[in-house]
Amino acid sequence: MENSSPAAFPALSPELMGLLRCPVDGAPLVHASTGSALSCTRAAHSAQWRGGILDFSPAPGTHAFEGWVAWTYDLLLSRVLLRRFAVRRQVLERLHERAVKAARGGLLLDGPCGTAVLSAPWLLEAGLRAYVGVDLALPMLQRAQRRLRMCPTLLVRGDLCALPLAEGTADVALCSLGLQFIRDRAMALRALRRALRPGGLCLGAAPALGLFDGYDRRHATRPDPDFPLTASTFASELVEAGFRDVTLSTEGALILWEATASS
Ligand SMILES: C[S@@+](CC[C@H](N)C(=O)[O-])C[C@H]1O[C@@H](n2cnc3c(N)ncnc32)[C@H](O)[C@@H]1O
Ligand SMILES: [Zn+2]
Repeated sequence: MENSSPAAFPALSPELMGLLRCPVDGAPLVHASTGSALSCTRAAHSAQWRGGILDFSPAPGTHAFEGWVAWTYDLLLSRVLLRRFAVRRQVLERLHERAVKAARGGLLLDGPCGTAVLSAPWLLEAGLRAYVGVDLALPMLQRAQRRLRMCPTLLVRGDLCALPLAEGTADVALCSLGLQFIRDRAMALRALRRALRPGGLCLGAAPALGLFDGYDRRHATRPDPDFPLTASTFASELVEAGFRDVTLSTEGALILWEATASS
């Protein structure tokens, strides 16, 4: 991993520090003796602060949310993505509202958080103990950081499949419009389950094939297709990953789900 930079070391409460884990091997992290990095207590893994965002330098994803995509994401969501999925904005807004309210007094993991455009409106009054937003793309996180400057948050550049949180620490995990970018979905679902306490809630939305023709057609002709959900098996995938009481609904190409982490 990279060396630490002399960037400012934002205050990380001892409580949050205790909840973080090395995403490579799950070991506790400590403040590094040099520079501004955190370091792993087991091996030579480290993280560094990039302008207040904790960066674990994850491997790049299959789809880049960098450059103009990050800068225009909020507009793209309204003008392109919602139409592409044939979903009403208020359906996604309700999902985010429900996740934030369900996490009241606890820790909300938002992964991938993107620019936090849909979660931000609820966060200021949310009464959360902590909000941890995880995303692969630094520019998306930087947009989220600007948007969330009034809220106590921890923004982390990391991979949904290797979350830097100790087991059982999140009360709610929100996964909005992210699973379709992940080749190994079972790994991501297990990572979300691991981060949740038993009884914790996982909520999310992602596109599936076979629900909306427009999405299916586009998917079939894309040079870099996503990894959409399979509507007929997704509930059992959640159960296999360690969830129970799975509820699914659909709108347009999206499956929306809610599931409880099993004991
Ligand atoms: C369509 S955006 C969704 C953002 C936000 N949840 C929302 O609903 O607006 C997808 C995000 O997933 C992130 N992403 C893709 N693969 C990822 C991975 N393996 N781990 C973490 N984030 C990932 C991208 O960087 C991007 O910001
Ligand atoms: Zn480590």
